[in-house]
Amino acid sequence: MPVDISIQYSPEEYKLNAKLLTRRAVGLLKECRVQDHSLSILLVNDKEISWLNEHYRGKKGPTNVLSFPFADGGDESLLQLPVNELGDIIISLDTAWREARELNTSFHQRLTWLMTHGFLHLIGYDHERSEKEAEKMYDREKELLDILKKSRSNQMTQLAINVDHVATIRQARGINEPDPVAAAAICELAGAKGIVVHLREDRRHMQDRDIWLLKETVKTKLNLEMGAAKEIIKIALDLKPDMVTLVPEKRAELTTEGGLNVSGQKKKLAKTIAKMTQAGIPVSLFIDPEPKQIKASHQIGASFVEIHTGRYCDAPDEKTKGKEFQLIADSAEEAYQMGLRVNAGHGLDYLTTGPIAALDTIEELSIGHSIISRAVFCGLDLAVRDMLAIIEQNGRLY
Ligand code: PXP
Repeated sequence: MPVDISIQYSPEEYKLNAKLLTRRAVGLLKECRVQDHSLSILLVNDKEISWLNEHYRGKKGPTNVLSFPFADGGDESLLQLPVNELGDIIISLDTAWREARELNTSFHQRLTWLMTHGFLHLIGYDHERSEKEAEKMYDREKELLDILKKSRSNQMTQLAINVDHVATIRQARGINEPDPVAAAAICELAGAKGIVVHLREDRRHMQDRDIWLLKETVKTKLNLEMGAAKEIIKIALDLKPDMVTLVPEKRAELTTEGGLNVSGQKKKLAKTIAKMTQAGIPVSLFIDPEPKQIKASHQIGASFVEIHTGRYCDAPDEKTKGKEFQLIADSAEEAYQMGLRVNAGHGLDYLTTGPIAALDTIEELSIGHSIISRAVFCGLDLAVRDMLAIIEQNGRLY
């Protein structure tokens, strides 16, 4: 591996950041044409970086990043190195957190900036040498960060809106308003990139009329959520939505409760996937963030997985939330590495969406309840735009 990352501190919590940084560091090596070289990155805490700062630079207190190049004296000296090792970058996660908050940026963004800064020192740039050198380094830094930003695995997380909840209100009265078809049009006008509807066997919210009208009117992408039941499969094959998401469906549940047990029903699901694929409809499987479900989804030919975010959203305390987030992040990374396309959703709201939108392995978020709830008070257009702003702010990942 050209990039060796070790975390000296809270390794579990920061495993994902390490994976993302590895990907970005490989990008930097390529961009600077030193891909035959390697480097090592050490993620430490303030105490450890303070010791290094004092020991090697005679400076007291913590700093954000330290670089220890193998070669000194610019690009050319790299070529004369006996080993293809650029050196070490040491980043304090504590300071990175603090700076991210102070600068109102995401933790990933700050880490990526610090790594890029440290990397430039390794390949001979030094802003402390002179004003001219500082300008040269900052220009290159900006250039590289722009390149990394563009090479994000997804340009920007997309928002798909589930309008079932509008139909639920309509069905409560048994009349013809509010209309989920009109709601879908407003969501699209406000910037949503997809519309999601769940046609349940008991037709408790979306009706057949709704999905056929939506097929005609949706301009972005229509994602039909469905259980793998015979009747619904037939409707999906006739309707030909832009994609289907297979979910477990129980009659008594208020909403989809858990992910699909893909590993336990591979044969049945593979058959449904094959039918959809033949009709040119990509299939996503709604799964809990578990390695065995990801592996099974990949084996039976799903195009996408949608990772269930419910346990993360409903976590009773911050510690559990952190753990659940890590499971989602790791599962998304694993699925992405396998070549699956990755969506996520369920229970996301205006507080929980940000960190999920920052995961660059996730293409699309499927959100319904929180947006429709907010719309009751401030209107659907604003509710969609507020959610988009959160996604955009957190998705600006270098
Ligand atoms: N994804 C799936 C598979 C779902 O079943 C639902 C709920 O209908 C959602 C996403 C959206 O969840 P919420 O309405 O809680 O945002």
